[in-house]
Amino acid sequence: MQQVPAETDFIVVGAGVAGLRAAVALAEAGRVLVLAKQELTESATLFAVGGVAVALSDEDEIGLHLQDTIDAGDGIVNPDAARVLVEEGPERIHELLEWGTQFDRTGSKLTFTREGAHSRSRILHAHGDSTGREMGRALAAKAMTLPNISFCEFEFTADLILKDGSVAGVELIAEGGKRHNVQASSILLATGGAGQVFRDTTNPSVATADGVAMAYRAGAVVSDMEFVQFHPTALYVPGAPRFLLSEALRGEGAYLLNPDLQRFMPAIHPMAELAPRDVVARAIASEISRSTATDPVVYLDMRHLESTHIGKRFPRIYSTCLQYKIDITKDLVPIRPAAHYLMGGVKTDLYGHTNVRGLYAAGETACTGVHGANRLASNSLLEGVVYGARAGECMREELQSLTRNTVERDVESNAKDDPEKAEQAIRVIQNVMWRYAGVVRDGAGLQEAIVMISALRDRLPAPVSRRSCEARNIQQAASLIVRSAMARKESRGAHFRTDFPVHDDANFRKHSVMQTEKVSFE
Ligand code: SIN
Repeated sequence: MQQVPAETDFIVVGAGVAGLRAAVALAEAGRVLVLAKQELTESATLFAVGGVAVALSDEDEIGLHLQDTIDAGDGIVNPDAARVLVEEGPERIHELLEWGTQFDRTGSKLTFTREGAHSRSRILHAHGDSTGREMGRALAAKAMTLPNISFCEFEFTADLILKDGSVAGVELIAEGGKRHNVQASSILLATGGAGQVFRDTTNPSVATADGVAMAYRAGAVVSDMEFVQFHPTALYVPGAPRFLLSEALRGEGAYLLNPDLQRFMPAIHPMAELAPRDVVARAIASEISRSTATDPVVYLDMRHLESTHIGKRFPRIYSTCLQYKIDITKDLVPIRPAAHYLMGGVKTDLYGHTNVRGLYAAGETACTGVHGANRLASNSLLEGVVYGARAGECMREELQSLTRNTVERDVESNAKDDPEKAEQAIRVIQNVMWRYAGVVRDGAGLQEAIVMISALRDRLPAPVSRRSCEARNIQQAASLIVRSAMARKESRGAHFRTDFPVHDDANFRKHSVMQTEKVSFE
């Protein structure tokens, strides 16, 4: 790792697949600084136990992948964005193979598996259930061979610095709390998602909506913030993180059992356990709320499946559950839904441009409309590499046209930190969001959430430490989510309201956008 420079050509905030792929594209045009707020290995990418979808098998076609992506998005996928994803996906995956990514194979051929809502077997995995980790490893290894790229770990990006409406640099907080600025006129936000806005999430602790919140503060337009995908099956062990139990487990034949140990999905959807994610998540939430047990739990049941195959196919899930004394091949596995993926984000075009000059976004931080109201399983790692590469190529072309503004190196602040207050505010927001803006929503609950989250803004500690900045970002993202969810008076994709339980195409077959407090649809 290197010293943080005072000035560079490109800054990439975030070291998941989107940020790393962009950095590789940028390296031939100038000095690239990749910032990670934790160690490089702590990103949503590295947590991805699912796979990467790509139309590369003999039985598949790009057009079919496109159609599945559009169908999953429930009426509002941006078709141009989805076409870019599926058409450029194969090239990005070939390139990853060239750079040493070890996807699983049967003999010498890549192994493609099938998941819910995919019409063909098109999901690649690596080491069974460590696909994101392997893609991240290969991309980081490639990036480290390029002398123009430097990495700085444990540097938290607190804010963007603007001069005359253009980005001029970033304000950083180092691990020990020291603040300093770095100057650059071209900045990519690839900070991942916003799972930490909710009490229960599959996301890592770093997923505190930093990119979307700092872009919004800088005047960027955000879009589709009401669309949060809840994964139906996160491990539910009190006191343990909500570890993701891949949909592929149900793809292999796992059943869902309610607190009375009965299967319930066959009565709810013709595809039973493989129904769309939002349908399964709502069915689980309903079984939990109907139960009279004290702490009701739904279970994944794999006891009827071939145990050696399950252990081999899901080594990471198997060993993680074993840490909690759960043998997934022999025991019932307690699960609950958890916030998993933000379809919305900083509004960008198909090259990562935001409306702020010099500011770009890619991956989960961005919203191109590629996922519409509901992301097709395993499309996010592909999105990261396709749109990360595009943003990097575009930034490379445009660097010379951007104005370089000088920023001060050192930042003095006399404000007092209050980590306890930050922690408390985060807990309150996470609970409010889980209760009122979770799997099932309604107008009264959302209104309650809007009032509580707004009131908290004035009680946040000054943003002087990393944690107090994260509290500010979580509050800001929560506010964007609840306001957008309130404005969308219908149900669509992952956004379900009991007071408006069906689509309203006439008014809402559109994307929500926010730049100031007001939500509009376009
Ligand atoms: C899963 O495997 O269930 C998660 C993968 C994804 O969300 O795309």
